[in-house]
Amino acid sequence: MPSNRLRLIVKTVLATVIVLGAGAALVGFTVLKAGWYNVAATQPHYQFVYSLLEQGMHESVRFHARNVPEPPPSSDARVLRGAGVFNNHCVQCHGAPGVPMAAFGQSMQPAPGPLVDAARRWTPRQMYWITRHGIRMAGMPAWEFQLPDDDIWAIVAFLEKLPMQTTASYQALVAAAQNVDDAPAPTPVPANPDPQRGRTALAQYACQSCHVIPGVTGSQTFVGPPLEGLEQRKYIAGVLPTTRDNLVHWIRAPQSVDPQTTMPAVGVSERDARDMAAYLLKQE
Ligand code: HEC
Ligand code: HEC
Repeated sequence: MPSNRLRLIVKTVLATVIVLGAGAALVGFTVLKAGWYNVAATQPHYQFVYSLLEQGMHESVRFHARNVPEPPPSSDARVLRGAGVFNNHCVQCHGAPGVPMAAFGQSMQPAPGPLVDAARRWTPRQMYWITRHGIRMAGMPAWEFQLPDDDIWAIVAFLEKLPMQTTASYQALVAAAQNVDDAPAPTPVPANPDPQRGRTALAQYACQSCHVIPGVTGSQTFVGPPLEGLEQRKYIAGVLPTTRDNLVHWIRAPQSVDPQTTMPAVGVSERDARDMAAYLLKQE
């Protein structure tokens, strides 16, 4: 009977898929546990793996940048500021006309390419998205919590002009931008802290590299104490009574509380520290 045959075919196909799937998982697991996969940065991906990942990255940026608002209008002042910020934060990895990448940029895998042609491949909104959010597992940092939004747009305005630059004109722009003050403009602190933003901020300031923090992905590290149940502890770092304001103060300037502490001040803004405190103390 045809229906019996069909059932047999379906069963055989399913069994084959399951056996092959389990086999592949077993091989993958063995390679992983045996340490045969080579994580060395001197060992590049195979070309087809690289091309596939690059394609995936492009599609991901295209998809996620679709809701980015229209850029503010470009101007000479904005381009100049962008050149200054680029020269302070980006040129080390990406280089510029006549300027090499720093040694650590050259030997990264994947290599951060020059951005002279970025504006030909990306729209301004896509360049904004990449700069703001970074590219995970590629070494491209996220700048959302490191640079004010206006400066990210300034870099984009500069990147749009980059394809036209020569070595000389780039040097002239950077020299003119020397006086650009790179200190982030203080962002206004909203009345109500945002715990979910605080959770993102914790990872963006790498707090999880020293602390185990519930809800923040990281290693089992105990350089600093775990931050679970902070609201139940009487004192922050055994010194300050646990209140939201004291926690903000500790996060921003631990050494002003305890000059001996090895916890560094990592440059957290008032707003970001308030959001972190709201998340850590579980207050809405
Ligand atoms: C620590 C090194 C590093 C720094 C600093 C850095 N980047 Fe990147 N960037 C990368 C890497 C790595 C990639 C990914 C390359 C890849 O996936 O092919 C990348 C990719 C990009 C891309 C996409 C490039 C393309 O054409 O596909 C843009 C745009 C970009 N970065 C902008 C910036 C800007 C703007 C800054 C400064 C605010 C910056 N980057 C700072 C490492 C860096
Ligand atoms: C380089 C490692 C390191 C980094 C990065 C770091 N911390 Fe710490 N942190 C410590 C150490 C060490 C202590 C213990 C300090 C002490 O008791 O004097 C500590 C203590 C604390 C405490 C008090 C904990 C308690 O049990 O009382 C809090 C809260 C805290 N850190 C939050 C943060 C936040 C938020 C960040 C990110 C902005 C951060 N830390 C980044 C090392 C670090």
